[in-house]
Amino acid sequence: MAKLNATDWIWRDGEFIAWQDANVHVLAHSMQFGSSAFEGIRCYDTPRGPAIFRLEDHLQRLLNSCKIYRMEVPYTVDELVAANCELVEKNGLNACYLRPMVIRGYGAAGMVPFDSPVEVFLPCWPWGSYLGDHAMENGADACVSTWARMAPNTTPSMAKIAGNYLGGQLIKMEALANGYDEGIALGPDGLISEGSGQNVFVVQRGVIFTSPMNGTLLPGITRDSIIMLARDAGLDVREGPLQREMLYTADEIFLTGTASEVTPVRSVDKIKVGIGRTGEVTKLLQRTFLDLAQGKTEDKYHWLCHVRAERASAT
Ligand SMILES: Cc1ncc(COP(=O)(O)O)c(C=O)c1O
Repeated sequence: MAKLNATDWIWRDGEFIAWQDANVHVLAHSMQFGSSAFEGIRCYDTPRGPAIFRLEDHLQRLLNSCKIYRMEVPYTVDELVAANCELVEKNGLNACYLRPMVIRGYGAAGMVPFDSPVEVFLPCWPWGSYLGDHAMENGADACVSTWARMAPNTTPSMAKIAGNYLGGQLIKMEALANGYDEGIALGPDGLISEGSGQNVFVVQRGVIFTSPMNGTLLPGITRDSIIMLARDAGLDVREGPLQREMLYTADEIFLTGTASEVTPVRSVDKIKVGIGRTGEVTKLLQRTFLDLAQGKTEDKYHWLCHVRAERASAT
């Protein structure tokens, strides 16, 4: 499992502070009640220097998460774009993972949060592949979790908020305890929802299926990117309800997420997926995605925010 790789600087509400000084009080509202909205974003090392993948989209999702929870953030997406670029440059990184966080700090005594200040932290650190290089290459071993995802209209799945990740932790810990790399959770309707931190794609007879936005899963930015890249490549992508048994009969399965990128799945509940090796559709999409993110192919959707160009235009 990955341990944090400390960097020098963290941005906090408009200023840079040392990594070790980015502390909060134990009675901060977010500590007690999980009220911390956050993002996970990757910065890739490209021929034009560090470039952050779909930074604006991630920051917009962050502000949306905050809006759902009535957290007033005193920064615009543009201001947060500039701050994140400055952060990467100041830490001297080419490739890293960024974890913007908006927390409710210290103040409120009880659950009602309005007496707690909203505070913004922007950390980043170097982070390799989430499920390991072996899984990226050969596929992860997954299980169907006994833990289901939240029902719609309970805690909002569109908000990326710390409290939602209690379910994710149960899914992941159960998978690891039973010798798997990752758990795939069903929704309350028994249909495929998502992994503990990834969206799920299933390939059957050349058609790519993924679960719809049905109130049980996070609208993944990688999911959206893959749908666009697959359609660009002329592939048939369908969003619709997916039965659990499709995980056992699929030709290919892959997981998508910022941390996991495009990770093949080679078995589910010890049943081999397809021929048990990374399939051709998965390989194509993994390559297409990474080539674009690493600046090796044309960035036709303007998904890359080039840190140096952004910094030059800011000065
Ligand atoms: C629960 C969950 N689902 C899906 C995803 C994939 O989202 P994205 O591709 O935006 O990283 C993530 C990762 O953030 C996640 O935590």
